[in-house]
Amino acid sequence: MDKSIDDIRGEAIESLAAIVDSESLAEWRSHYLGRRGAVAVLFRQIGSIPAAERAEFGKRVNALRGELAGAFDERAALVESQRLARDLETDEIDITLPAHPRRRGGLHPSTRTHREFQTIWADMGFQVYRSREVEADDFNFSLLNLPPHHPARDMQDTFYTSDPRVLLRTHTSPGQIRAMRELGAGGSKPIRVILPGMCYRQEQVTARSEIQFTQVEGLAIGRNIRMSDLKGTIAEFARRMYQPDARVRFRASYFPFTEPSMEVDVECFLCGGKGCRVCKYSGWLEIAGSGMVHPDVLRNGGYDPAEWSGFAFGMGPERIAMLKHGIHDIRYFWGNDLRFLRQF
Ligand code: PHE
Repeated sequence: MDKSIDDIRGEAIESLAAIVDSESLAEWRSHYLGRRGAVAVLFRQIGSIPAAERAEFGKRVNALRGELAGAFDERAALVESQRLARDLETDEIDITLPAHPRRRGGLHPSTRTHREFQTIWADMGFQVYRSREVEADDFNFSLLNLPPHHPARDMQDTFYTSDPRVLLRTHTSPGQIRAMRELGAGGSKPIRVILPGMCYRQEQVTARSEIQFTQVEGLAIGRNIRMSDLKGTIAEFARRMYQPDARVRFRASYFPFTEPSMEVDVECFLCGGKGCRVCKYSGWLEIAGSGMVHPDVLRNGGYDPAEWSGFAFGMGPERIAMLKHGIHDIRYFWGNDLRFLRQF
């Protein structure tokens, strides 16, 4: 029996040393270490060994199994590294083959428009001020000259939180009050900011209106700011945003927080003002609401309206993006349909 263990060891080690490929390795393993392999056969013999020698025999078979398993692992590692070295030497890599195209994410059309806006306004000296989306009722309405029962509150159907004094802002204008209070240093410093961000209105969702949309608010406060500053600034923005010779026009309008108030139109940048389907053959596209900051609003921001004045405007990036890219349905913006988003 002893001889047999040594024979098996000798034979196994010798044949293992000659193996150079993984198939033979697998064969070798099942031949010696497999369930019906030589070592398993030895284990099965233990029962028939005379009791006096049995323990010793078992120990030696165990040792054999350990030794062969170790030798196998070593050989397997060697065979694998040789295979790799061979492959590296003989395999050709065709670097002219095209790579797998990798799908990259893109920027949301609103984000792109916001970035264009921000670049232009930053070049014109406006800093970005981020105001909160969850707002106090006072800031969204009362401090902007819309007291609790002001009929203009009907203009905006609002999402309230469980606290009726807290709501999702219906426009970016409440940020005017926050910017004035935070940056105005008690009404002693001029400010020039844009306030971009998401707004919410409780509206029926249609191709033209969504319950969420973004706005970019603008606010300039100073000692001698006049309506001509507002007109000149917006006209310059339009030239930078749309086309170098874009004309703008101002129409009288009404917002409770500006006086006087104006709506701003830009010459249709799709037809150059000749009239087309997009501008409904008028030659003009509405791009902003605007006006001179109402004295009450200045006061609520901490400024003395006898000394300070300012202008404000609000623009809708989705509308601009829709006009620019011929998007006919605003629901695409927040519908998360990749087929839409991938086009940008
Ligand atoms: N907040 C107004 C709206 O949502 C837009 C606006 C902003 C008008 C600033 C005038 C001045 O319609």
